Amino acid sequence: MDDEQLLQKLKEITVWSGHREISVEDLAAIQPGLGRLMPEVGQRTWKLYYAAKAENWPLATFQAKEIKGLMELGAFTRPKHEEALNQFMEENWKPLQEALNQKSFPAFEEAFKKAVEAANAYHEMKDKPYIVWKLPDTPPPDLDLRPRKKG
Ligand code: HEM
Repeated sequence: MDDEQLLQKLKEITVWSGHREISVEDLAAIQPGLGRLMPEVGQRTWKLYYAAKAENWPLATFQAKEIKGLMELGAFTRPKHEEALNQFMEENWKPLQEALNQKSFPAFEEAFKKAVEAANAYHEMKDKPYIVWKLPDTPPPDLDLRPRKKG
């Protein structure tokens, strides 16, 4: 069997998902793009801000890392956005994560504002000027943001 035939065979193979047969191509096609990842980025960015404001550094650090992971996933599933996402992470997310490491809210807030401005500039650059993320005025209602003592 040559490579061409092997590839053809691979495309024909399906697996049972528990609900339906799914091919490898189907699996590739349903990987999330930015339309599915970005709303979660927005939710976590909200949590990130108010966790840092409450000086809950482990939670803020966790949210910043999760956002990084979502951006990396987006860069992988949508290579056309890879460069912009990587640049954002390097120029805007790194300083924000460093501020979190220092446990400094003023440094974090400055980096956060810059990152949000940059994110919205990327939205505009990506022909989505109507997507302007803004920080909600109140903390997210679904998480207790108070720092917890280990124990
Ligand atoms: C922390 C930073 C960011 C936040 C909070 C954020 C937030 C959001 C939100 C909430 C949406 C979805 C709006 C909706 O449909 O309800 C969105 C969409 C989008 N964002 Fe971001 N974003 C960020 C950074 C970026 C960066 C760096 C890029 C660069 C590529 C980007 C590119 C996009 C694109 C292309 C869409 C439209 C997705 C689609 O529907 O196809 N975003 N963003």
